[in-house]
Amino acid sequence: MTVMSQSADALLPVYRRAGACFTHGDGCELIAEDGTRYLDFVAGIAVNPLGYNHPVLRDAIARAVETGVLHTSNFYRTAPGEEFAAALVDHSFASHVFFCNSGAEANEGAFKFARRAMGPRPDKRDIVALSGSFHGRTFAALAATDRPQYREPFAPLVPGITIVNPFDDVALERAITALRTAAVIVEPVQGEGGVNVLPPAVLQDLRELCNEAEAALIFDEIQCGLGRTGTLFAYEQTGVVPDMVTLAKSLGAGLPMGAILMNERVAGAVRAGDHGTTFGGGPFVATVAHAQFQVLADPVFLAGVRQRGEWTAARLGELKARRAQVTAVRGLGLMWGIELAEPVQPVIERAFEHRLLVIAAGPNVIRLLPPLVISESELEHGLSILEQCL
Ligand SMILES: Cc1ncc(COP(=O)(O)O)c(C=O)c1O
Repeated sequence: MTVMSQSADALLPVYRRAGACFTHGDGCELIAEDGTRYLDFVAGIAVNPLGYNHPVLRDAIARAVETGVLHTSNFYRTAPGEEFAAALVDHSFASHVFFCNSGAEANEGAFKFARRAMGPRPDKRDIVALSGSFHGRTFAALAATDRPQYREPFAPLVPGITIVNPFDDVALERAITALRTAAVIVEPVQGEGGVNVLPPAVLQDLRELCNEAEAALIFDEIQCGLGRTGTLFAYEQTGVVPDMVTLAKSLGAGLPMGAILMNERVAGAVRAGDHGTTFGGGPFVATVAHAQFQVLADPVFLAGVRQRGEWTAARLGELKARRAQVTAVRGLGLMWGIELAEPVQPVIERAFEHRLLVIAAGPNVIRLLPPLVISESELEHGLSILEQCL
């Protein structure tokens, strides 16, 4: 037994972990302690857009270490966080950015800001989320998450949060009201819920309902943002401008970082002392995140994601035609779901044995989230392994 396998028992077993213990990474491959290389179509669940050991990240990490300052406090100014916030504002609808440490924390903050901005009246506090949603594991984020098995053991959750079917107009109109609703939160492409691309028409209707109700529209782009769908932000493809966008996952290039992007109306209502977090936007993480963001925001880089996304769509269409158990393929850019008529876990385990990493999005959907730097030949290699495993 290696030291690594002996020590595994000390971790709380809330995850069913696959067998190998990874020690290194290189490009789109993770390398196990015995030297076996795995092609990675998970990328840390949409976290590592530049794959592993990328020179831009190595250089940024070295620069950040060189300063000797990993952390100050948000009571003091540091340049990296200010500069990264300015870059996010330059590339989006937002006027201001709040940095935090994770996706759930970003959504919790967005709910607070919505209540502050849209609900000065004590009864205009409700938050509406949609069927199939996943917004995180903390109490309010969990209340907005449509997964009974994640919620029920931990009830009571935060009150005032309801989940509505986005395709049921009557239910939406009943749920989103001027009197009670502070915010509506939506993933433009639902990740954990099965890779569901919400039709732009649905998002446009939500925008109108929010306008009428004077409620904030929050796009949770924690999984689908930052180039994953082929545009820097997923909202760019929807014809809708939200009031807030939450980001995390790939934002910090593997370091824990989240952000809330917001418009002037929301930002203008938030007062000093309303919200805070010890680590958010510290100089180390912000230096690395900003360096990565400059790569992701490059139009040539994004065009490459779109082009390989179209290639993947065509290749998955062929796979569906050849494999009877594939009932649907759906996605955008380099975020794809393959729905099977059977449970996907055995397929995921077979793929692992063939040194391909993929994960599920629910019991019947295989999710593909490769690094955005993946080449067409690596995509082809991984998809042919997957086809064999089906
Ligand atoms: C869309 C979405 N929102 C929120 C979260 C929660 O993020 P975190 O795990 O960083 O709290 C996730 C994580 O999977 C997510 O996919």
